Amino acid sequence: MSDHDQSDKKRPLRSAAWFGTADKNGFMYRSWMKNQGFPEHLFDGRPVIGICNTWSELTPCNAHFRRIADKVRQGILEAGGFPVEFPVFSNGESNLRPTAMLTRNLASMDVEESLRGNPVDGVVLLVGCDKTTPALLMGAASCDLPTIVVSGGPMLNGKHKGKDIGSGTAVWQLSEQVKAGKISLHDFMAAEAGMSRSAGTCNTMGTASTMASIAEALGTSLPHNAAIPAVDSRRYVLAQLSGNRIVDMVKEDLKLSKILTREAFENAIRVNAAIGGSTNAVVHLKAIAGRIGVDLELDDWTNIGRGTPTIVDLQPSGRFLMEEFYYAGGLPAVLRRLGEANRLPYPDALTVNGRSLWENVAEAPIYNDEVIRTFDNPLCKDGGICVLRGNLAPRGAVLKPSAATAKLMKHRGRAVVFDNFDHYKARINDPELDVDASSVLVMRNCGPKGYPGMAEVGNMGLPAKLLEQGVTDMVRISDARMSGTAYGTVVLHVAPEAAAGGPLGAVRDGDWIELDCESGRLHLDISDEELASRLKAQDATAASRVLASDGGYLKLYIEHVLQADEGCDFDFLVGLRGAKVPSHSH
Ligand code: FES
Repeated sequence: MSDHDQSDKKRPLRSAAWFGTADKNGFMYRSWMKNQGFPEHLFDGRPVIGICNTWSELTPCNAHFRRIADKVRQGILEAGGFPVEFPVFSNGESNLRPTAMLTRNLASMDVEESLRGNPVDGVVLLVGCDKTTPALLMGAASCDLPTIVVSGGPMLNGKHKGKDIGSGTAVWQLSEQVKAGKISLHDFMAAEAGMSRSAGTCNTMGTASTMASIAEALGTSLPHNAAIPAVDSRRYVLAQLSGNRIVDMVKEDLKLSKILTREAFENAIRVNAAIGGSTNAVVHLKAIAGRIGVDLELDDWTNIGRGTPTIVDLQPSGRFLMEEFYYAGGLPAVLRRLGEANRLPYPDALTVNGRSLWENVAEAPIYNDEVIRTFDNPLCKDGGICVLRGNLAPRGAVLKPSAATAKLMKHRGRAVVFDNFDHYKARINDPELDVDASSVLVMRNCGPKGYPGMAEVGNMGLPAKLLEQGVTDMVRISDARMSGTAYGTVVLHVAPEAAAGGPLGAVRDGDWIELDCESGRLHLDISDEELASRLKAQDATAASRVLASDGGYLKLYIEHVLQADEGCDFDFLVGLRGAKVPSHSH
């Protein structure tokens, strides 16, 4: 038997509390693990590395993760670590109802407790589909072990009728073309197989690619993690190298809190603007920051991100897809452009490979100025996230300028109100609906508590009769989120939401609403007295009370979820609790 006494080691690893003693407890922990065929030498005090896997056939974007996990495992073994793979709840965006956001916090709890309760010294997070990246980072942040992110990578470009089509974005575009009578239903159905033709996540700059880019910008992954296609052999090289690196990170005690600093979040906000990233990043970044103990406010998106041109020309804001983004140089090229333009707030921020963000990218090649444009020739001069406030959103709302129509970003129109998503679906194509291109579509009760789960329904499709007239965009306002693959002049995340007593609940058909992105104003044009009296009259929490009575996880969710401006985490999960070894039971 090898020496399980860790006293000769400078800094005993936390796994030694399980495997490091030559007594009854050590016997038990080791013995059961050995039923998997692990040889004795793996218990000799080497770093035990968790491979936290969101593999699931019900999460198609992460369905190739077993192969990625094998490469990570190979890397860990090669570097002298002991790899142990474990599953966590997998939030698949495409299948999970009512919305994968409902279970983001559940997955984060799964990750946190799996890490804290088990003999792991460091962890590799295998993430891909939208919610899996924030969920795993949130859970890991609360534990603060050495952590490295490996994303699954995007799908190859979609192809339909000889043209590239982007995940999600093509669905919105093609379905509106069917409604407008521009393409046949047969054509629409034919696009289905062509859109998703390889393993991987959505190939647009949707939420999955945004969060993968943000994970890289935060310094939590190796360079190029964001963009290497899922089926590119280099994705598997990166997985193996990440397995190598995490072992050294444990030896260096390079914990997540050393990477996820306020400076790293500022870099990520700036990067989100440059890539034309998803509005979902706002809630996810706030939730991750809350877990690690970094103060991040909604207004930081204005102060840090606004004014940064969007230089990545990817759908849904632009033309290209993630494959071209990688071939053009990927995120390191964007970071280099930002740094050379003095627009990278903290180039010295530390990354998981032990080097600074700038050291990683200073020499990064840039191969295509059309895909990764220069700051002299941006896709959108004023990228970033537009934070709006006013009597309609006292705690804020957001809009993505790069996906909006410039002339609608200052607009005054009359409200057409939908009480919830079902009401919207029942009414939107009613030929009698009193709506024209200047109307403002308002939908409520789709926020964190109201939906519940704050579904991605904020980019309401336009009325068929207006689409037939050639209308392509209208101002839309809701307490919902929107898919990162969607576009339009869409005001989202209105806080507080209607179901929490927010003023969205007081809007009536025909009210005038003013939107002004430049000044950040969202205003319901009624008097303060009238607004107060309408709010008093409504029983805004009725919907959430009914749902809460169903019990189960929904009850926990509705009772504890925070509003959008606070990241939609559970109130009791905010904060860094560490990974102190729990006492044992035998
Ligand atoms: Fe999974 Fe888009 S549905 S990444």
